[in-house]
Amino acid sequence: MNYEELRAGFVKVYGEGGDIRGYFAPGRVNLIGEHIDYNGGHVFPCALNTGNYAIVRQREDRKLHFFSANYPRLGILESSLDDLVKKENSWTNYPKGVIWAFGKFKDMHLDRGFDIYIYGNIPGSGLSSSAAMEVVIGTMVKDYYGFDVTPIDIALLGQKAENDFIGMNCGIMDQFASAMGKKDHAIFLNTATLEYQYVPLVLKGSKIIVSNSNKPHSLVSSHYNERRAECEQALSDLKKVLPIQALCDLTPEQFEEYKDKIVDPTCRLRAKHAVYEEYRTKEAVEALKKNDLETFGRLINESGDSLQHEYDATCFEIDTLVAEARKQEGVYGSRETGGGWGGNTVSIVRDDCIEAFRTNVAKSYKEKTGLDCSIYELEVGEGGRRLF
Ligand code: GLA
Repeated sequence: MNYEELRAGFVKVYGEGGDIRGYFAPGRVNLIGEHIDYNGGHVFPCALNTGNYAIVRQREDRKLHFFSANYPRLGILESSLDDLVKKENSWTNYPKGVIWAFGKFKDMHLDRGFDIYIYGNIPGSGLSSSAAMEVVIGTMVKDYYGFDVTPIDIALLGQKAENDFIGMNCGIMDQFASAMGKKDHAIFLNTATLEYQYVPLVLKGSKIIVSNSNKPHSLVSSHYNERRAECEQALSDLKKVLPIQALCDLTPEQFEEYKDKIVDPTCRLRAKHAVYEEYRTKEAVEALKKNDLETFGRLINESGDSLQHEYDATCFEIDTLVAEARKQEGVYGSRETGGGWGGNTVSIVRDDCIEAFRTNVAKSYKEKTGLDCSIYELEVGEGGRRLF
């Protein structure tokens, strides 16, 4: 939908008049650095050029009206600034959570509500449409109220909404990528300090291919919170013998020396993933800067193997998609990306092999899983912003 159509969609639902504004925030894909944004590690995501649009008009009263062009049959969902509480299974928890977070963490309170029209175009699940929702709402609230918050603050408020309102203990990666994305760049982010660097995504002679497994991932948030708790347990065991703040403070050598201090073998495996993933991520960014795609791809493979075996965060469909991708000619590396247990993979594929990759992977994935996958070239866009 272009801006005219979005505006017309808003007007059809809420009527003409007033100061109607449009905003956008993207989804994200992570190239490497998985499940370490809550372990004090480095991550390497980039923003998509798809995301969530919010067309909005401020109201005179304290009501909040939500309409999603993706779920038109739900109609207008009503709430209010005096009713910022979570409701079971409602997408409106995300925007409400962000408005709640402004008040709770910044003491920035709203006195007038909004009519909000949302349209999302992120394909499938697993590419952070919830972070895109949080960031687009944060960007909109800041703009209407003139609040003194930076895009990084908006990312942090989105994370707070997710952690404390929704109940998903995510790290900062998704919201940061959505708020701070830069066209044709990935973000090398230190999640312990929020220092970051933009790295141009120029892969000479190759492209990053995203493949959606179309496996609906259920129970992600409970698996995810369980992994996070396992990492915290490992850290607490290690802290008894080492002066560290986070698992990613350990070098692989230190990990090998002290790993027996982690009592539970499952927690030990989770910690191993975190420590080595941190190392792989830093190496991968260096390799990419030198356009050393062999090394970059090898590290992507190692990350994927670790997600499968050490972190146990994949599933049959993803393992199949990754295995089929790696069999293809001209593939430097392939792995699951994002939260896990379904969703998407990223693969680095030589330009002249992309067509065959699409055909062969789609065919064998369908044969083995009965599912159709969607395969497309990654296009990296800008972070959250006002459109009109
Ligand atoms: C989800 C979370 C992120 C991050 C990834 C895994 O997307 O929201 O914070 O932990 O999983 O890397």
